[in-house]
Amino acid sequence: MAKPVILVTRKLPDGVEARLSSLFDARLNPADDPWPRDGAEIVRRAAEAGAAGILCAAGDAMDARTIAALPPSVRILATFSVGTDHIDLDAARARGLVVTNTPEVLSFATAEIAFTLMLMAARRAGEGERLVRAGAWTGWAPTQLMGVTLEGKKLGILGFGRIGRELAQMARGMRMEIHYRNRSRVAPDLEEGAIFHDSDDGFLAAIDVLSMHIPGGEATRKWLDAERIAKMKPGALVVNTGRGTTVDDAALVAALRSGHIRAAGLDVYDGEPSVFPSYLGLENVALLPHLGSATIETRDAMGARCIENLEALLMKDQEPPCRVA
Ligand code: DGY
Repeated sequence: MAKPVILVTRKLPDGVEARLSSLFDARLNPADDPWPRDGAEIVRRAAEAGAAGILCAAGDAMDARTIAALPPSVRILATFSVGTDHIDLDAARARGLVVTNTPEVLSFATAEIAFTLMLMAARRAGEGERLVRAGAWTGWAPTQLMGVTLEGKKLGILGFGRIGRELAQMARGMRMEIHYRNRSRVAPDLEEGAIFHDSDDGFLAAIDVLSMHIPGGEATRKWLDAERIAKMKPGALVVNTGRGTTVDDAALVAALRSGHIRAAGLDVYDGEPSVFPSYLGLENVALLPHLGSATIETRDAMGARCIENLEALLMKDQEPPCRVA
């Protein structure tokens, strides 16, 4: 029997590509050229290949128009991400297209990047690194680049899912007090003493550090706006490793300039890879290029998840384990 054809929109780790090629007729993208972001090109290549599945990733424009234009041979979109905001799930459902993602395996790695950014923001690590690299460091000085300690501070986790809870574990090691805001209160064994807030106002007023872990999409667009920022304590820190669309960049820049927000750490951007230009001129914001899940171990595990999903639907006629639509 002919192997199902899988169109792969991005360069993947070597081991993942080898396994894909052994199981499927995998059409790889070894050059990692920018075509995948263009929906029309995905449609063209899927039709040319007679693809049964598409292994896509965050940033690939799987909008309603692209989905409607996919050839009938395509049965599944397996995204190499936990986030699905680049896929129009309603359009996929309407077309009977199965969509899967890669939950759980990237929670720790993404929490590590949130933790890194929290420390960079609190301890001015980016500024210090730039000073040394510029050859401008003149030696230890009692008042140089003083930051704030995280010990004893109140960490507010917005979105207390797997990533948020991993961050809570790490922050307990820093003796931080954990607060969270979530759609609903989680079970006590998941809460582990974290303080639940049932209103944005109470949550924002209570915390010293906000770490954002909510999905992208219209419902969360510009969640952190000028009004909510004004409710935060003066000198608070902001970290975002979820989706860039959840922050009103102009409002955050204004607060970073005024000092109402002492510092921020961002791994995700609205319209990435573009970055809101004003961030680039600010010393008190640490900027990373969407590194949340970027460990060797995690990217291999994400690949394995995609393969399990493709295999279940296309080779075993089973329900894929990580189906989201
Ligand atoms: C995810 O998995 O959603 C990460 O943000 C990478 O896209």
